[in-house]
Amino acid sequence: MTRARPDHPFLDGRTKGLLIGGDWVEAADGGTFETLDPATGQVLATVARGQAEDIDRAVAAARTAFEGDWSRWKPFDRQALMLKIADRIEDRFDDLGLLETLDMGAPVARTRLFKRWLLQAFRYYASQAVNIHGQTLENSFPGAFMSYTVKDPIGVVGGIIPWNGPLISQLWSICPTLATGCTLVLKPAEEAPLSALFLAEIMMEAGVPPGVINVVPGPGPTAGAALAAHPGVDKIAFTGSTATGRKIVEASAINMKKVAVELGGKSPDIVFDDADLDIAVPGAAMGCFNNSGQVCYAGTRLFVQRGIHDAFVERLAAFGRTLRVGDSLDPETQLGPLVSQAQLDRVTRYVALAREEGAEVVTGGSRIGSEGYFVEPTVLSGVRNEMRVAQEEIFGPVVAVIPFDDEAEAISLANDIEYGLGGAVWTRDVGRAHRVSRAIRAGIVWVNCYGVTDPSISYGGTKMSGYGGKGGPQHIEDYLYAKTVWIRTD
Ligand code: NAI
Ligand code: MG
Repeated sequence: MTRARPDHPFLDGRTKGLLIGGDWVEAADGGTFETLDPATGQVLATVARGQAEDIDRAVAAARTAFEGDWSRWKPFDRQALMLKIADRIEDRFDDLGLLETLDMGAPVARTRLFKRWLLQAFRYYASQAVNIHGQTLENSFPGAFMSYTVKDPIGVVGGIIPWNGPLISQLWSICPTLATGCTLVLKPAEEAPLSALFLAEIMMEAGVPPGVINVVPGPGPTAGAALAAHPGVDKIAFTGSTATGRKIVEASAINMKKVAVELGGKSPDIVFDDADLDIAVPGAAMGCFNNSGQVCYAGTRLFVQRGIHDAFVERLAAFGRTLRVGDSLDPETQLGPLVSQAQLDRVTRYVALAREEGAEVVTGGSRIGSEGYFVEPTVLSGVRNEMRVAQEEIFGPVVAVIPFDDEAEAISLANDIEYGLGGAVWTRDVGRAHRVSRAIRAGIVWVNCYGVTDPSISYGGTKMSGYGGKGGPQHIEDYLYAKTVWIRTD
């Protein structure tokens, strides 16, 4: 589609720099790249392209900050800073949400909802800043000794995030970094770096000291790989594909980095014949189609009990056809474009593969228009769990429907997958809800809903969806280490 780019205070025509040591700077080699609006394919902004040398500079700045004044900030001071950032975000959110929409394509109806998320994340983790404690431990060593643990910040953190929701995914490294007194080098994805740069500007205005948060957009194989392998980085928080996650884990061995990897998924969504279909049909549909399917825990394998299967598929397809796919800036739009030509190619390739494998495309399956990367919500039926379209992450609005006969078969099919991120159960039988939600091997399971999350509630993955959860009271522990102290007292 074509339309004029709206005015935006951050899109002033100037090249966006890297944030290193509190300064906005060019890349060492002067390189830049362009980021697009995926709804139009038009260039939004030119951004400095960080490379290994820039990562070196940013890690050095983060180390200096970690060892400097920042290490003397009291928990209360860090809390106050985070609350101030939240207040600033509250004032500037409209611009922040709009920038995310422009840069990665999620409709304004979706990015508007991120306001609650951002504010709650900063305010929740601000409360964590004043809740860091070790333990006194009684010991039996002969003589007079006292023993206790203290929690110290782990050091310099590298955050590597994807493009499918950077405004939210960056919070998982920024908030615990600030709460614990760590420092951060954040590397956003090239497809959508702007909301990270804009949020960094807001954080600097709120008084984050130079070097505490550094932002270096750049290519994964150079800037990302340099950060993951850097001996000066103590921890990596990565969100993205399983293939890249494996490289991150391998690179961490160089200096025994602590790693959290939140990876891909192919989450099972199980609809029993006693479910309330008036909520299960739209719930399961949006469990997959939300954000045009570009969600790590999307419910992309939809298991439907045989007795209701045909009627369910019909209603699902009808619901899919009602969804408004279009201009991300239109408040009525429910699904925006995919993020890039590469993602569009990937999704259309998988739809072709589904046909080759013998599945039926009940609705959707095609690109919409010729400008921007729009694709129709797509329902596949006649899918068997061993097909590639049922096993591999497509990352588009494509749901694979698979029939099952009984509870045992549903559980066994649901778990027959290398991933373990999310899952859902739709039933009115409370016993079955408990049994099946416990039996699904995944980090998060929803019952009669999908995708409900909150910064104060932890979640993570298992199996090849990774490890090292986020959110909730335990998350800051990953940014701390326990030191044991022994004191002779006689
Ligand atoms: P990716 O996992 O390669 O990219 C995510 C982040 O990692 C980006 O910031 C990227 O620059 C960085 N990166 C890439 N290679 C790296 C390396 N060698 N070392 C360090 N950092 C590196 O994912 P990509 O290529 O953007 O998307 C490909 C597919 O991955 C998607 O189609 C989707 O299936 C999956 N994906 C899944 C996500 C999820 O949340 N589950 C998020 C993004 C992608
Ligand atoms: Mg973009």
